[in-house]
Amino acid sequence: MSNLAQKSELIQLLINGQTEEIYIRHSDTLLFTLREQLGLMGAKPGCENGDCGSCTVFIGGTPMNACHMLTIEVGNEKITTIEGLSDNTMQEAFTSHWALQCGYCTPGFILNTYALAKTNPNASEETINEWLDPNISRCTGYQGIKQAVKVVLKNEREKQS
Ligand code: FES
Repeated sequence: MSNLAQKSELIQLLINGQTEEIYIRHSDTLLFTLREQLGLMGAKPGCENGDCGSCTVFIGGTPMNACHMLTIEVGNEKITTIEGLSDNTMQEAFTSHWALQCGYCTPGFILNTYALAKTNPNASEETINEWLDPNISRCTGYQGIKQAVKVVLKNEREKQS
């Protein structure tokens, strides 16, 4: 192993409204740091290859795959995990529309669709389908998820009008 791979560095991360000081290795993924160093277990390891969306977090408000990002790359951007999402409207809609089964992929779906509700509440059916592409569920159907998302988008439109 090279010296670079072993080297640790003290950094600050802005996570869920708090500043955390931690030692990281340059090779640590953000998913590893969140789960193994900070105990934030909401972002889930699925494919760990950027294909399933179960590790989704917000970086500066944009949904990103934490498995595909090095912690050192985050810099001063604000990180929000499912634990830090204070607006529960999407969670409540998922619950009332049975939009989950085992729940493993649910935090990723919630963060990704919450971003859609905030950025494009007028999204068409086609756009919703495309938006859901990065998130994979193996055990629940997508119908409940789509219904939950549509309800939240409608409420968001009404709020904004
Ligand atoms: S675990 Fe990150 S996209 Fe699948």
